[in-house]
Amino acid sequence: MTEKQNKEEIRKEINSLIEKYYALEHKPDRFVAGQSIVHYAGRVFDEKEMQAASGAILDFWLTYGKESQAFERELADYLGRKHVVLVNSGSSANLLAISALVSEDFKDRLSPGDEVVTPALTFPTTLAPIIQNGLVPLFLDVECGTYLMDVNLIEKAISKKTKAVFIPHTLGNVGDMDALAALCEKHGLHLIEDTCDALGSTYKGKKAGSFGLISTFSFYPAHHITLGEGGAVATDNGKLRKIIASLRDWGRDCFCKPESPLNGECNKRFEQSWGDLPKGYDHKYVYTHIGYNLKALDVQAAIGREQLKKLPDFTDKRKTNFRRIYDALTPYLDYLILPKAGENADPSWFTFIISVKPNKYFTREILVNYLKENKIETRMLFSGNILKQPAYRNIDCRVYGTLDNTDFVMENTFFVGVFPNLTAEIMDYMIHTFQKFFEQTIN
Ligand SMILES: Cc1ncc(COP(=O)(O)O)c(C=O)c1O
Repeated sequence: MTEKQNKEEIRKEINSLIEKYYALEHKPDRFVAGQSIVHYAGRVFDEKEMQAASGAILDFWLTYGKESQAFERELADYLGRKHVVLVNSGSSANLLAISALVSEDFKDRLSPGDEVVTPALTFPTTLAPIIQNGLVPLFLDVECGTYLMDVNLIEKAISKKTKAVFIPHTLGNVGDMDALAALCEKHGLHLIEDTCDALGSTYKGKKAGSFGLISTFSFYPAHHITLGEGGAVATDNGKLRKIIASLRDWGRDCFCKPESPLNGECNKRFEQSWGDLPKGYDHKYVYTHIGYNLKALDVQAAIGREQLKKLPDFTDKRKTNFRRIYDALTPYLDYLILPKAGENADPSWFTFIISVKPNKYFTREILVNYLKENKIETRMLFSGNILKQPAYRNIDCRVYGTLDNTDFVMENTFFVGVFPNLTAEIMDYMIHTFQKFFEQTIN
């Protein structure tokens, strides 16, 4: 046996042991109604992800390498985008997207004090990079049901200082992207999509995350696919891709792939001139941005590649689970606001979002506690009105109109899960629990 065959045999053996181990350790436990916890989200994986991870560990490249490059290519193909940059979280992806917009290398760059439209109902690290880059958030309210901003309201709110719109596709929902794109075109605004909750959602058949100048993704375990931690930035603009990769990689100018360490892809590693730097200074140590290190590990990308293969099946399961709870809760529309997809959108819902209408029988607190007693996990819609969060109370911002719906959501809204691990049996239990609540509470 050659050395190569020997190594392949060892890998096969390891993979077969992993398969056995997965079956012993990770196969889902039998669901026991009322005892097993019904999670709102979580990792969905089998031995394939574990084998891919172990393969990357045996390669032991560790940092950005062949798995990362393959994942970037495969995600770009899935989205129909030219470029994807893999990073270590969705928050990092958002930071890079906004930081790229203020880069001196970006010809339509934003300047300090420019406004960025974004909802006050948000995730903290959708907003944080706007502030961190010296820009001013222009906050708008959302609609109850869709939990998205109304495009007409955006048009009314913008001023000469408004230069970009940063929309989260909240909980997987997608708004009127045609109207938004037309508005951005008309007023010269950059459109950035936070697609962290919406991988697999579509608008008129086109993927969420393929509309904006830049879009971002998160692969935290709660999301549609997971790499443990992880995120990505997508764009069709080659210049922006280079800026984003530079900001991710310490701010360096060099864009060489790891396989071309000696003279670099440009073949001019020691032949360029850079301002005051000594002539021919090593391109690997030329810094054209004040950057970060936000790289992911190759093992994360290896896991992600297996997850991507399963994404169409995950998407179907989310939609089926969503439809089941939606139908079961329709009789209670006097008491609940059920989620409403944007027009022409086909969301792959992150979760099932419910607002409790003011009524004489129960409040959100009562319903959420009932679900908790019955072992069903719930969550609130992220920060609620972020201006009420301690860290954000005194930020420099502009609010257009009221934030009445945002405040309503903060008081009355919560969500339960629809993720693929929720089997038909678990969904039956969840639906039955809601029904029992209404039987006992409404009379
Ligand atoms: C809309 C949105 N944006 C950004 C993030 C941040 O992603 P990460 O947890 O990967 O940093 C999240 C996280 O859940 C999110 O829901």
